[in-house]
Amino acid sequence: MGHKIYFVLFSINIFFGEDIVMSKKGLLNTRYLNFFDNTFDYWEVEQSYSLSEEMIKESLLQTPKSRDSNVSIYIHVPFCANNCLFCAFAGANSSKLRQIKDYAGLLVKELKMLSSLLSVKNSRIASINIGGGSPNLLGENMEYVLNEVCALPGVSEQTEISVESSLNGVDEQFIDILKKYNVTKISFGIQTVDDKIRADMKLLSLKNKILDTVLDKIGDKIKIKNIDLLVGLPGQSMQKSVQDLEYAMTDKKISAVSIYLLSKSSAVRLPLSLGTQASEHELSKTLILMHDKLMSEGWIRKGSSTYYRGSIDAESLAKIKGNEAIGIRRFEDILISVGPSAIGYAPGIRYENTDDLDTWSEMVKNDKLPFNYANSSLITKKDLTLTLFPLRFEGLLKKDLEKIKENEAISSKQFETFHKLISEGFIRENGDKYELSILGKVFMGNIVHDLKKEADQRLIEHKIEYKNLLKSGGNGAGKSQYKYITKNE
Ligand SMILES: C[S@@+](CC[C@H](N)C(=O)[O-])C[C@H]1O[C@@H](n2cnc3c(N)ncnc32)[C@H](O)[C@@H]1O
Ligand code: SF4
Repeated sequence: MGHKIYFVLFSINIFFGEDIVMSKKGLLNTRYLNFFDNTFDYWEVEQSYSLSEEMIKESLLQTPKSRDSNVSIYIHVPFCANNCLFCAFAGANSSKLRQIKDYAGLLVKELKMLSSLLSVKNSRIASINIGGGSPNLLGENMEYVLNEVCALPGVSEQTEISVESSLNGVDEQFIDILKKYNVTKISFGIQTVDDKIRADMKLLSLKNKILDTVLDKIGDKIKIKNIDLLVGLPGQSMQKSVQDLEYAMTDKKISAVSIYLLSKSSAVRLPLSLGTQASEHELSKTLILMHDKLMSEGWIRKGSSTYYRGSIDAESLAKIKGNEAIGIRRFEDILISVGPSAIGYAPGIRYENTDDLDTWSEMVKNDKLPFNYANSSLITKKDLTLTLFPLRFEGLLKKDLEKIKENEAISSKQFETFHKLISEGFIRENGDKYELSILGKVFMGNIVHDLKKEADQRLIEHKIEYKNLLKSGGNGAGKSQYKYITKNE
């Protein structure tokens, strides 16, 4: 296996060496000195201190729906009984598990409030994603949630339904509920199969073959069985990451794999002292190697970070909308998000559910929209179609780019950046659209950042710096280090 790795890396250097503005110091010979540490918060907006519930309600009611609007639903389950060290949800609300039945009821209540305000009854619902935390902790209450959400007008045979789960606590009854509602995909956070790293990260041991047992229990009841792998865990070398991927590719029961780069700012509890993390140079090579391995063995990328086995049945694959980043990808999209801390969107509206479970529950019980109004916003960002396109595996249609240019949604600076990214080999033209090259895929987060307007770039940098500051206990040690090589370096 070893010589194959080095051959691919050698080829990568030759392949990209001549096309890209070169600097020996940048990752993979690009001008990027590090990854932009941002996995999920791709569409931050300024805080607003003057929004009221009435203003948001009114805006939701007025939301224009174009035929282009892609409507999806995200249902958040902020409960987890596990303790994975890198995860912001570890142990979330574990002392409140007795409330889970009430919680299911309140989720459905919020879902109904929002879908009626947005009057999405005439729109097709593209996907429903139930994530967390550990949604399997809903247990038998999952039946009620699925029954209600599937009864919404707009949900059809073509709607993708994905459910995240932790490996422990998945029983036959839970699997049968998912089968009854024709769930398309179940996703387990495996992260790594390396026993030592698993123990260090407080992940469940796989020595008792729990993964095999669970996959056998599911069998064909759910067509797509996905596992998440993390890259960049302490003690994880390139070779170990490749071994993780080979494990997933060899086990035919696994039909899809999502590869995420560890976000340090989200890993709030990961001790800085624990193991060494591979250098960003090594991480960038690892990502490109994993991508190459999947593509060369016929896996299909559908989603910002997810690949499906080539042999997967066409009907299931057609249902997959590829929005595992749980966000919107175009200005016109609508995302109905329910549950504490879940972030939703409609053109010109970004709303954030309040993150405290008890506050959220109280507000829903009292028929209030359970939002954090300071973190919500009515600022219109028409350039989202451009800035978020790196998350769309479908790419950016040239006609969509023309449309936003005509609407003067993007500045000349943004347009310049777009063309610079093309000349550097991150974005390439392909017929009627633009898409990320393999290199662009590796630097997806950096490209989203770069395509934003300068004020929006500062906003997201500050947000990450703030998270890092909290993580370092306020001494600033975790400050964001996002840097480019400039012409003078
Ligand atoms: C938050 S978990 C929820 C689902 C479920 N409990 C599980 O473990 O699969 C979903 C995925 O987020 C990813 N994740 C967690 N912490 C992360 C971090 N600090 N950086 C990047 N991805 C992370 C992991 O790959 C995990 O499988
Ligand atoms: S990765 Fe999943 S199981 Fe682990 S702490 Fe996070 S939400 Fe819980």
